[in-house]
Amino acid sequence: RGKRGYVVGGNWKCNGTAASAAALVETLNGAGPIPENVQVVVAVPSVHVPLVLGSLRSDIEVAAQDCGANAKCGAFTGEIFAGQLLDLGVTWVVLGHSERRAAGESSALVADKCAVAVKEGLRVMLCVGESLEEREAGLTAQVVASQLAPAAKKLSKADWGKVVIAYEPVWAIGTGKTATPDMAQETHKEIRTWMSKNVGADVAASIQIQYGGSMKGANAKGLLSKEDIDGGLIGGASLTADFFNVINGVP
Ligand code: G3P
Repeated sequence: RGKRGYVVGGNWKCNGTAASAAALVETLNGAGPIPENVQVVVAVPSVHVPLVLGSLRSDIEVAAQDCGANAKCGAFTGEIFAGQLLDLGVTWVVLGHSERRAAGESSALVADKCAVAVKEGLRVMLCVGESLEEREAGLTAQVVASQLAPAAKKLSKADWGKVVIAYEPVWAIGTGKTATPDMAQETHKEIRTWMSKNVGADVAASIQIQYGGSMKGANAKGLLSKEDIDGGLIGGASLTADFFNVINGVP
């Protein structure tokens, strides 16, 4: 696996209150040390970003769950400009999550957001993944490729150095059904091969690919032991102390 380390992200989604976010920060702050080969990031609701930034241990970075495609501040009501996140101390952003795609975000829009985020200096967790119907029709590799292609058009090789890909099969998200380590590995490898052909062999070898979808302490080790699985993006289990069992599941 070369020099690739692991990235474990916790996606809190639109959960919690100020009080529950503070309690979760306490839990994370009180959990044990983070292994040296793992980078940990939590993607928190935008409204809780300042609270979390002000209280979370310094070895966990903070992500937003989306940002706008607008390349500057201005008259974009309701949007969040990547530069505003960076100004607060946010260093990452999750883009193209299936829950946002389901709400109407196209891969082209996601690619525009990626370009702005990277240009401003954020790191990006770019989410891709197929639905159950698409998997059953044998379309997984094609769907994932179609989600990556607009980003490949927009981003330079240097830009890709700021991006990790989160492979999240939609049918595994929040359902308790995890892809088996072999199934996930197969798609991760396809993604790496696609990146090699369409972006470059060097980028393909170095880019980290996270798995997401009902990942938790109990199944993390099996997934993380696979050659092309470089971490996880954790939803439900990131709201509990079990998040650290995932982190500690790295080889
Ligand atoms: O982004 C993480 C995610 O969608 C997975 O959610 O609850 O299945 O771990 P969950």
